[in-house]
Amino acid sequence: MEQQQNNRGSFSNLGFILAAAGSSIGLGNLWKFPYLTGQNGGGVFVLVYLIIVATIGFTCMLGETAIGKYTKLNPLGAYRKLSKKFAFVGALGIIVPFLIVTYYNIIGGWVLKYIADFIMGKLGVMVGDPAGYFGAFVSSAFSPIFWTLVFVLINFIIIQAGVSEGIEKMSKILMPALFVLLIIVVIRSVTLPGAAAGLEFYLKPDFSKLTMATVSAALGQVFFSLSLGMGAMVAYGSYLPDATNIEKTSTIIPIMDSGAALLAGFAIFPACAAFSVDVGAGPSLIFQTLPTVFNSMPGGVIWAIVFFFLVLFAAITSATSLIECPVSWLIDSKGMKRRTATILVCIVAFLCAIPESLSLGELSGLTFPTFNGAMGIFDFVGYIAENVLMPAAGFFMCIVIGYVWGIDNFEKAVTNNGQFPFRTKAFVTIMIKYVAPIAIFIIWLQSIGIWGLIFK
Ligand code: PHE
Repeated sequence: MEQQQNNRGSFSNLGFILAAAGSSIGLGNLWKFPYLTGQNGGGVFVLVYLIIVATIGFTCMLGETAIGKYTKLNPLGAYRKLSKKFAFVGALGIIVPFLIVTYYNIIGGWVLKYIADFIMGKLGVMVGDPAGYFGAFVSSAFSPIFWTLVFVLINFIIIQAGVSEGIEKMSKILMPALFVLLIIVVIRSVTLPGAAAGLEFYLKPDFSKLTMATVSAALGQVFFSLSLGMGAMVAYGSYLPDATNIEKTSTIIPIMDSGAALLAGFAIFPACAAFSVDVGAGPSLIFQTLPTVFNSMPGGVIWAIVFFFLVLFAAITSATSLIECPVSWLIDSKGMKRRTATILVCIVAFLCAIPESLSLGELSGLTFPTFNGAMGIFDFVGYIAENVLMPAAGFFMCIVIGYVWGIDNFEKAVTNNGQFPFRTKAFVTIMIKYVAPIAIFIIWLQSIGIWGLIFK
């Protein structure tokens, strides 16, 4: 049943790198990385983040891709094939991306709405009261849901075209375009008068700001940004031909992903300093702050449209990758046609987005208790996916590779039975068996609030 590979399509090497980079580079890089950096002390967060990318990030990227390439199955089938007992890890690889996509679509909708506003000449009105403008929009009942639907429809059209034609074609155009557009905005930003203070905040680590919370925020962000711990890379790896050097691809993809995140920081922090914008504005940083920044530039509307289009491109390639996880499971395990599976996932994800979006307005009174305080539906779904389930999936992936599937089998998958050298074998072995699971477990305790209870 699970072996129906003929209708799965396959990737070329470059196609895989572009599609995997497309999955990784998204709202996590352009929207979340800058605001987390701003909230967590600037340069020191960037430093910790990069160290984690090079260690745990690289290791988990290689691990997930290897599992996908070896099993040629969706995450659930893949983990089941490695060990029946650990099939639940694969189930997380279907549930978690689905949960994420429900609110990812909403943020994608916000981006679309802002692009439409810029095009309709509302930048001037917006910057009069950016916080109020953003707040009024997200808390309204109809508008955010309408734009979420538009975002879902765009993704639907792309996905149902199939893996090689849909995602690969799109990545080949959108990824290089993304980097070009980002660099243009960076050049504008770093040449603004007063940019130097922002660069200093961004690049000079202030070690007095280094706390457990900084490390924990950075580790969570590495998982989210690299699309790890949720089966996305297992799904993509399953489309790879055996003769692919995945040690290489697992090096290139995190470098591209971090490059995009770093560029986003270079675009935002110098501009924040130049226009006295609060770096700690949080999740609203892009939506409230950038319009103000762009408005103060000559040709501001153009800059705003260009930048938000760039964010939209990145959000689409990530969202399609998230949707691909449950879709490929429905194709493989339930024998569904790609088109039917995509329609089903898109409709259910959209229906889930409705109460989530309403929870930022009408339904804000409806909250769920957690160790980290009561949360509305929107925050709660994000918390369950990113803070509770995602690190758990990453943790168990290490356990499965290190202790169940075994390093020897893992090595065979990485080297394609000796065809390629495995240069980082010693390093990856220590990471997978010890360092990564322990670090992830600690961050998990921190995220769900138990660490805080123990070390009061
Ligand atoms: N990595 C994507 C981003 O940075 C989000 C994502 C997570 C996409 C998991 C796919 C799977 O926006």
